Amino acid sequence: MYSQKVMDHFMNPRNVGKIDLASGVGEVGNPVCGDIMHIEIKVNDDDIIEDIKFNTFGCAAAIATSSMVTEMVKGKTLAEAERITNRTVAEALDGLPEVKMHCSNLAADALHEAIKDYMDKRQAASV
Ligand code: FES
Repeated sequence: MYSQKVMDHFMNPRNVGKIDLASGVGEVGNPVCGDIMHIEIKVNDDDIIEDIKFNTFGCAAAIATSSMVTEMVKGKTLAEAERITNRTVAEALDGLPEVKMHCSNLAADALHEAIKDYMDKRQAASV
């Protein structure tokens, strides 16, 4: 049912935890299953995501997609990270079962929320 990559990221999730003085925080939940994903990012002066951590209370697909999204954006610019979608995360995991595609929305949405939080804070600080 799940690819080797999904099983690997589920069994050995990367970048779990929290960041001291995170630049941006994103949290989203799936109202149907009740699963929740929390992402924290640290952004440097060059708009590069130099660190990212997550905590996900959810199914195997939610944990695997959370882990994969952190690997995909670490070291990338904010603009590159904004282009990541649930489809690109699922593809990086060699696919997800169709009934589990909605789980990958959590990872992409939480990432985008964290970026938005960072942008909002930066804008507020410059006013
Ligand atoms: Fe809830 Fe997968 S079943 S995110």
